[in-house]
Amino acid sequence: MKKFVFIYTYGCQMNVHDSEKMLGTLAQEGYTAATVPEKADLIIFNTCAIREKAEHKFYSQLGRIKHLKKSNPLLKIAVAGCVAQDSRQKVMKRAPHVDFVLGPQNLHVVGNLQTSKRNLYVDENPDIAYQEYAMHRESATRAWVSIMYGCNNFCSYCIVPYTRGREVSRPSSSIVAEIKGLKERGYREVTLLGQNVNSYRSDIDFVGLLRQIDRIGLERVRFVTSHPRDLSTALIDALVELPTLCNNLHLPLQSGADAILQAMNRKYTYAEYCEKIGLIRGKIPSVTLSTDIIIGFPGESESDFEQTVKAIKEIEFDGMFAFKYSKRKGTRACEMADQVPESVKAERLNRLLMIQEDIVLKRNRALVGSVQEILIEGASETDPSMLMGRTRSNKIVTLDHNGAPEGAVLNVIIEKARHHSLHGKELS
Ligand code: SAH
Ligand code: SF4
Ligand code: F3S
Repeated sequence: MKKFVFIYTYGCQMNVHDSEKMLGTLAQEGYTAATVPEKADLIIFNTCAIREKAEHKFYSQLGRIKHLKKSNPLLKIAVAGCVAQDSRQKVMKRAPHVDFVLGPQNLHVVGNLQTSKRNLYVDENPDIAYQEYAMHRESATRAWVSIMYGCNNFCSYCIVPYTRGREVSRPSSSIVAEIKGLKERGYREVTLLGQNVNSYRSDIDFVGLLRQIDRIGLERVRFVTSHPRDLSTALIDALVELPTLCNNLHLPLQSGADAILQAMNRKYTYAEYCEKIGLIRGKIPSVTLSTDIIIGFPGESESDFEQTVKAIKEIEFDGMFAFKYSKRKGTRACEMADQVPESVKAERLNRLLMIQEDIVLKRNRALVGSVQEILIEGASETDPSMLMGRTRSNKIVTLDHNGAPEGAVLNVIIEKARHHSLHGKELS
């Protein structure tokens, strides 16, 4: 008999990709993805613990599906991901209807759950670097590829080093083999995944890996995330030299105030960050930059926040993800004095978002009239009469639907700029 699994995925690209791995592993056991949780024999929550809000979303959804066990007594419920690792006991105690808890370093056990008793799978697992997964990828043209797992940075606000464990890199040979296989199956783009890709190290370093991947000859190669401290001039040179690498970088700044950066344990100053950005923009004028900002880290004064505002105005990012600081138990910042009141965080966040909106629009307007190469992702979600694609610099472009399939590469002239996308016309 056919078995069905339904996965709720929260959090970052790593989780999205982990869900693809779980689905692939389960497919080998005869499972198919269910369209609704009501039809599933196994429901998996792939959770995120980065901020309280993300955790909360999971707990409320977990409560909402509890009744499904009454109508289907054979239904199993598994909690995977970062909350599973971080709050394993709490999940088991608080939710008796949960059968399994499996952390991000133990995804491979997902294939054996149907025969297993109520259990926790949360051991530290450095062998994850050598694990090969069957994968059920969402897209047939763009793929996520893990190159490393875990994080050793211990930024003082962050839960990830506790949930994903110590940093381990996949052997380059297995990464290269995976990407060659993707190319053979028609994939056009890969995004390399790691919490801090610049510290990739196996037999070769990150730049060495990029050179090998470039030779495979995919249309586009991207990577996330770079830590500003570890971004080397060799990497910048590789971005200039290697034709498959895209002209786009996500480089989380977190704060514009040196005192806050230090308290965050980020190990760079604002001036050092700017120096690297200056170098990149000098060598690749078309590069686009996006960033993450945390508002209201403990001790952030109005003048610290003003430094962040100043940084955002000076640098002019193409994209910014700004978050209110959220206390995470077990991290150093959680115990720090001078926690900033919620109302102050909210007010500062709004101010910053408004400033950034004008900057994005200005940056997007500067592209009107330019010709951009876009990779088609499919029909636009908001308007199916339109196609949606992305520039190499990672800007979203819409155009009238001309029948081009997903994965097609088109040249378009940009005609209109909006806050979150551009609109263009195909060049004939
Ligand atoms: N390894 C990546 C991604 C980390 S999580 C990196 O270093 O950039 C993504 C973003 O979430 C972080 O860049 C940070 O801005 C934000 N974040 C992490 N912990 C947070 C917390 N406790 N409160 C608010 N935002 C947080
Ligand atoms: Fe968290 Fe810092 Fe590691 Fe990123 S680099 S995952 S912010 S500890
Ligand atoms: Fe990602 Fe959330 Fe874990 S951002 S690493 S799923 S805490």
